Amino acid sequence: MDKLRMIGGTPLHGEVLIAGAKNAALPILCASLLSAEPIELENVPDLQDVRTMLKILQQMGVTVSFPEPTKRSRIILQAAHIPRPEATYEMVKTMRASILVLGPLLARMHSAKVSLPGGCAIGARPVDQHIKGLKAMGASIKIKGGYIQAQAERLLGATILTDMITVTGTENLLMAACLAQGTTILENAAREPEVGDLAELLVKMGAQISGLGTERLVIEGVERLHGAQHTIIPDRIEAGTFLCAVAATGGEILVKHCRPDNLEALLAKLREAGLKMAIGPDWIKASMAGRPQAVSFATSEYPAFPTDMQAQFMVLNALASGSATMTETIFENRFMHVQELNRLGAEIAIDGNTAMAQGVESLSGAIVMATDLRASASLVIAGLAAQGETQVERIYHLDRGYDRMEQKLTQLGANIQRMK
Ligand code: EPU
Repeated sequence: MDKLRMIGGTPLHGEVLIAGAKNAALPILCASLLSAEPIELENVPDLQDVRTMLKILQQMGVTVSFPEPTKRSRIILQAAHIPRPEATYEMVKTMRASILVLGPLLARMHSAKVSLPGGCAIGARPVDQHIKGLKAMGASIKIKGGYIQAQAERLLGATILTDMITVTGTENLLMAACLAQGTTILENAAREPEVGDLAELLVKMGAQISGLGTERLVIEGVERLHGAQHTIIPDRIEAGTFLCAVAATGGEILVKHCRPDNLEALLAKLREAGLKMAIGPDWIKASMAGRPQAVSFATSEYPAFPTDMQAQFMVLNALASGSATMTETIFENRFMHVQELNRLGAEIAIDGNTAMAQGVESLSGAIVMATDLRASASLVIAGLAAQGETQVERIYHLDRGYDRMEQKLTQLGANIQRMK
C-alpha cells in the first residue's frame, strides 16, 4: 500500500492548476446512461473514483473512449445499448457514489439492480431518500440479497420532499425525472454547484428543468434525451484544500482554473484566519505570513461552509493562536482525523458533533493513518506544516479524490514523496 512521506516546514510558493470537480464528474458520467447518443466531456479529473465509475458503466455496456490518448480529461461515453443494467457489490462497496446509476437506469431501461451501499467511515449514509423518491415516481423497489432491485414502466412525475437535503439524492431523482412522464417537483433540493453542473449538462441533452440553483427544481419529463458536450466545473474542494495548505505552511500561491464564486463561505473563514487573497474570475492569489487566527465554524449545506473542507480547515485551528470550535452537522462520524492530528501534537477534543481546538505553536511529524478522503488531505496539510518527517499511510483514500496531489505540492516546493 502506498504512503506519502513529507518533511514539513517549507512555505509553499508557485502556481497550481485545479482539476475538474470529482463530485460533478461522478453524476455527469452517470447521466450518459440517459441517452443513446454520445456525451463528450472535458475537464474530467483523473481520479480513482472516476476510473471506478467508468468501469461500472463499461460493465453495463457503455462505450468509453479517450479521443486524445494522452489526455485523460477528455472522455466520450455512449450508452447506445445497456445490456446489463447492474452495479455489483464489488464496485459499490469501493465507492458509494455508484448509487447514482439507479435513477438513470430506471428512467431509461425501466429496470435496475444496484448493490445497497454498506456502512461508511464518515457516517451511516443511508440511501432511503433516493428510494423514497423513486417509489413516489411509481417504481417498485425491493431489497433482495443486498441489492436494490427496481422496476418501473415509465416513471411518473411526482412532487418529492426529501427529509433532509441530499446531494446525490437530488442528483439521482433529477436524472430520473428528466425521462419521466409529466412534471416532477423536487422540494428541498441540494443547491451544491455540482448539482447545478449536472443540471446544465441535462439541459444541453434536452431536459426541461427550471429553478436551477434553488431548493425547488421543476422538471418536465421528455421522451428522450440527446447527445451533448460539456466541460466539468473546477473542483472547489481541491481549490480549498490548497488554500488551507498555504494558510498552514505560509508562503504565496496562485490557484488557477478555479471558481472563487463557489467558495465564498470558505474564503470568508480563511480571511478571518489571516489568509490574504486577491481574487479574479477564475483564480485566487493567496499569501500567509505568521500563525493563523483561530476561527470557529459549523458545516452545513451549500452555500454554507462545506463538510468536505472541515478536516482541512481543522489543521489551521490546530496551529492557530487562540481556540476554536468546529461543528459537523452533515455526517455523524466525520472526526476520525482528530486522533491522528493529536498524534502530530494538536490539542483537539471532541464533544458530540463539535471539535474544540486549542491552537499550538507547532506540530511535530509522526506516522499517521488516513481514514477517508478529506481526512487524508487534512493529514497531508498537517504534515507539510509540522516540524520533521510525517508519513501518511493508506493514501489510497487520497487517490480516490485528488488528481496528482503530491505532484502539485512538489511543484509548490513541498518536500513530499510517494513511497510504494
Ligand atoms: N442521508 C440520508 N438518507 C439519504 C441520503 C442522505 O439519511 O437517502 C443523510 C446522510 O447520511 C448525511 C446527509 O443526509 O447525513 C447528507 O448526505 P448527502 O446525501 O448530501 O451526501 P452524499 O450525496 O452521499 C455528497 C458528496 C460528499 C459530500 C456530501 C455533502 C458526492 C459523490 N459525494 O455525498 O462528498 O460530503 O454530498 O456535501 O457528491 C467527498 O467528496 O469527500 C464526499 C464525501
